[in-house]
Amino acid sequence: MSRIAVVPGSFDPVTRGHLDVIERAAGIFDEVHVLVVHNPGKTALLPIAQRVGLIQESIAEAGIAGNILVTSWSVGLLVDYCTDVGASVLVKGIRSEVDVAYETPMAIVNRDLAGVETVFLLPSPEHSHVSSSLVRQVSSLGGDVTPYVPPAVARFLQSPRD
Ligand code: PNS
Repeated sequence: MSRIAVVPGSFDPVTRGHLDVIERAAGIFDEVHVLVVHNPGKTALLPIAQRVGLIQESIAEAGIAGNILVTSWSVGLLVDYCTDVGASVLVKGIRSEVDVAYETPMAIVNRDLAGVETVFLLPSPEHSHVSSSLVRQVSSLGGDVTPYVPPAVARFLQSPRD
């Protein structure tokens, strides 16, 4: 039986740190679903479909797309998606103890709700300061985010938009 893991997040936009965690998950599990979820607690920069497209482009360019599916989820609980596709594991990237504190209650609730376990993976330390919110801020103020995001995202953020 193939083991499916879901890597959920806002991915607004996907960063090099996200990509690192996605690649590590793809090396451990048979199938990885990268799931773009709307987080009502955050002000969005990009529409969900755009985020999905940028992740697809980024994993293709990184040459890691083999066992990775990228999609989105907007109806109901995250664990409902997991149950629908037969995924028993969520994967979250952990940069610091702040992330552990943020993720732990969600991990316990997701296990209580549907028996879905959460696995924490550590990205390479060079990505430990990178976050989508910092990327959004630096980009909106005209700064260079090239070191923090995959090339597809850098090209997109640098391109003229309405
Ligand atoms: O990248 P983010 O914004 O930290 O991701 C947070 C996300 C989307 C994973 C989280 O908000 C989430 O799990 N949302 C789904 C709603 C849900 O199922 N909530 C109940 C269990 S925590």
